[in-house]
Amino acid sequence: MSITTILGIETSCDETAASVIKAGKGKLKVLSNIVSSQTKIHARWGGVVPNLAAREHLKNIILVINLAFKEAGIKPHDIDLITVTRGPGLIPALLIGTNVAKTLAYVWKKPLLGIHHIEGHIYANFISVNSKSNKAKKLRSSDIKFPILCLVVSGGHTQLILMKKHLDYEIIGETLDDAAGEAFDKVARILGLGYPGGPAIAKFASQWKSQVINPKSETNSKFKIQNSKFFRLPRPMINSNNLNFSFSGLKTAVLYETKKLKTINYKLKAILCAEFQQAVVDVLISKTLKAAKIYCPKTIMLAGGVSANIELRNQLRNNLRRYYPNTIYKIPDIRYSIDNAAMIAAAGYYRWKYMTVTQKKKALSSWKTLQPDANLKLK
Ligand code: KG4
Ligand code: ZN
Repeated sequence: MSITTILGIETSCDETAASVIKAGKGKLKVLSNIVSSQTKIHARWGGVVPNLAAREHLKNIILVINLAFKEAGIKPHDIDLITVTRGPGLIPALLIGTNVAKTLAYVWKKPLLGIHHIEGHIYANFISVNSKSNKAKKLRSSDIKFPILCLVVSGGHTQLILMKKHLDYEIIGETLDDAAGEAFDKVARILGLGYPGGPAIAKFASQWKSQVINPKSETNSKFKIQNSKFFRLPRPMINSNNLNFSFSGLKTAVLYETKKLKTINYKLKAILCAEFQQAVVDVLISKTLKAAKIYCPKTIMLAGGVSANIELRNQLRNNLRRYYPNTIYKIPDIRYSIDNAAMIAAAGYYRWKYMTVTQKKKALSSWKTLQPDANLKLK
């Protein structure tokens, strides 16, 4: 049972997403990638409200799937496999995606696979992209070599994962409290920058950075010195003797800084954003380099929503060029960094590839048994 055309469905949080991908000639090509974002609806609450998310998924999922088929130019009978996010995530949200996927698998008589959301983020790196601008993006999935060290940074996860082969995960470090994306969102809330916080903080920070230095010719250390004249935030656990992270103290440190000031004007907000972002990036890079020293990976990869952060992408690249020039550096295309369904279909492709004939046959009746799991473990 070989498969080429895969439907992906993702509803674990606040994006309703569907995608059709096609496998062939060693490439995973995205035929459509539809994402309907609910961020505006959740913004007034400062975070995702699970029941509101479920209501919006229910309203939009059929439209999103239809659009994914239309844009891909295919019909349901062209699909070989249906994949859906099974967890982790918000149960009311996951239930919509999984129930729709189960219904489609039953009606269309297609095999169905439930995918771990983080596995999806990791496999976003295996999607083929045609880009002239970024060398790292032009890397083909066949260029990725094992062992892989993957830094997963999203709204719910911050983990360093070692992969010795496909679908094999060893968590070698993780956050002890808040995830990196969660810290971005909470700091943005403290500063009144809205939800989601990551892009808002990155925008403020880059405005300040472009005023202080010319990023093309001047070094980041000059920028750090400029920031520290105004604020000096901690780099939690940067010197700890392990690969774990902690971001909740950093968020509290931002809160204290804002309390010290009577008012916070636009410029100070931008500097605080820059210093906060730099603190997160410093810790993430330092731990990744530490892990690289111990595990000697052939590839270092970024994954998850925070991997859309330009400073993280660029500063990690600069550090790897300097300390590990022979290690392959892979980052997902921005379209596949934040939540999407193409990454779920891509992970599904690899899951299927390594399944036995019996497992593949069983997938034809998954519509009877598949259940979402809010705390699904990566294994
Ligand atoms: O992976 P994702 O889309 O959803 C989860 O699985 O959680 O990640 C969302 C997180 C949010 O916390 C958001 O603020 C953060 O990713 N994010 C960013 C950026 N874009 C999204 N954080 C920093 N810089 C960005 N450019
Ligand atoms: Zn995600």
